[in-house]
Amino acid sequence: MTKFVFYVISISVILQVIEPALTVYPVKIGETLILDIGREVKEWKRVRNGIEETIRPCGNNDKKSDVPCNVWMTANSKKAGDGREHMNENGTLVIDNFQESDSGDYFSNDELERVHYTADGQIWKLARSKIAVFPLD
Ligand SMILES: *[C@@H]1O[C@H](CO)[C@@H](O)[C@H](O)[C@H]1NC(C)=O
Repeated sequence: MTKFVFYVISISVILQVIEPALTVYPVKIGETLILDIGREVKEWKRVRNGIEETIRPCGNNDKKSDVPCNVWMTANSKKAGDGREHMNENGTLVIDNFQESDSGDYFSNDELERVHYTADGQIWKLARSKIAVFPLD
């Protein structure tokens, strides 16, 4: 007869989540805006006037896809970009000839979460970055 032994490990941790780290990023009208928060980023998002838009790079795998790439798309699959935007395979977002209409909060859900453990067993999760982009006059 086989005897099963179960080990129950009880771990009690305190989880702390810090509010999104908001970076403010003033950009001159007409300048090129480049945002880079890491290579793990596969798509960028921005929220303008409460509406979320998404952009993805045109990779080899996406060529067969019906979903447009290198253009801002709304959640209901409408084109929201005007061709000045593109995203590189390495995760950088580029907007040429920055306009006031590009103002908004930029972020990516692909950004790696940074988790810190302290000696007393607490876990600190650093929220992902959120970049508030607005025109500088
Ligand atoms: C990302 O790729 C673009 C286009 O290939 C390149 O111009 C840029 O320097 C790269 N940036 C980084 C941080 O690797």
